[in-house]
Amino acid sequence: MPETSPNKPILRVLAGERLAKPPIWLMRQAGRYLPEYRAIRQTADSFLDLCFNPKLAAEITLQPVRRFGFDAAILFSDILVVPHALGQHVSFEVGEGPRLDALAGPGDWRRLNDEIDHGVLAPVYETIARVKEQLPKDVALLGFCGAPWTVATYMIAGRGSADQGTARLFAYRHPEAFAELIELLVASSISYLAKQFEAGVDAVQIFDSWAGVLPRDEFQKWCIEPMARIVAGLRRQCPDAKIIGFPRGAGTELPGYLAAVSVDAVGLDWTIELGFARDQVQKLRPVQGNLDPLALLAGGAALDGAVASILQAFSGGPFIFNLGHGVLPETPVENVVRLVERVRGTGTRAT
Ligand code: CP3
Repeated sequence: MPETSPNKPILRVLAGERLAKPPIWLMRQAGRYLPEYRAIRQTADSFLDLCFNPKLAAEITLQPVRRFGFDAAILFSDILVVPHALGQHVSFEVGEGPRLDALAGPGDWRRLNDEIDHGVLAPVYETIARVKEQLPKDVALLGFCGAPWTVATYMIAGRGSADQGTARLFAYRHPEAFAELIELLVASSISYLAKQFEAGVDAVQIFDSWAGVLPRDEFQKWCIEPMARIVAGLRRQCPDAKIIGFPRGAGTELPGYLAAVSVDAVGLDWTIELGFARDQVQKLRPVQGNLDPLALLAGGAALDGAVASILQAFSGGPFIFNLGHGVLPETPVENVVRLVERVRGTGTRAT
């Protein structure tokens, strides 16, 4: 594994250190709210073309770091490149989100490859290498993938929805077949993340954006257990791998998640009660989050108040400032500038 600088603030927090000023990056920090992203987006035929163009993807990855001075760059790509590299057709319709060739019945995914095609993903690894060359040395480079449950919901329904009901129904009707798909995604995620580390990322985040739609037993079976196998499998290949889990919507299940899944830190969404998060979650592992993306969009007093509450709740322990989900396309750039100033300028506590 490449050497990583212990001086990168994000890595210090992932190692359990509390910093006087929390490091900050934002989920979806590269994207449509940035005019420089929209300018590049216009030049590409499709979103996937952009993800697989190392020169442009590296440039987009670096854009928000240059503009705002974030403490991390996150690889510009998408969680759905994994189904694509398994042979499923994936496209992104402008203004409508992802469309996949849905896996309708049990066994339908036998038409998928047995393992991910690293040839298809080679441009992603090249993007990582290019970003690494240009990144300031105190800024961490984050890789990522989707967690098996979240990726499977898109593979089965062929698109996103309000509650991913199609995949939930499928898992109830065909639990054994569904478990096979999850296992394919566990193996694919380990192999994909190991390659990202080999290419130069400092840490990875595993996005389980749809963890919150499952009842407790299903959450255990489809989120906690596969995630535990990914973390253990990845550490066998990359013993020092730094891993952030983000089971969005897990709420009061987070202490149980952390007991079973040995991630280095956990991302919090904006709905969690801050006192619970501080006393029951941050006590166990460093936390990252959790500003409501709509408070960032609104700006002004709503933004300042929410930032102050979050800093007050988490500044006493290891903490990375982030949103509770991705930056929304309508977000004014000046609100992001204000957020960074607030986080860097206030809420400091002596270490
Ligand atoms: O965070 C970053 O800046 C890195 C890049 C990144 C993207 N997608 C770029 C993207 C990351 C980490 C993702 C993760 C992702 N993708 C998730 C997990 C996190 C989450 O948001 O819940 C999910 C569920 C997806 C699947 C996906 N990709 C959806 C549902 C959509 C459509 C919604 C939308 O915002 O358009 C995408 C498209 C997508 N992924 C865009 C970007 C910048 C917009 C594409 C465009 O510019 O047209």
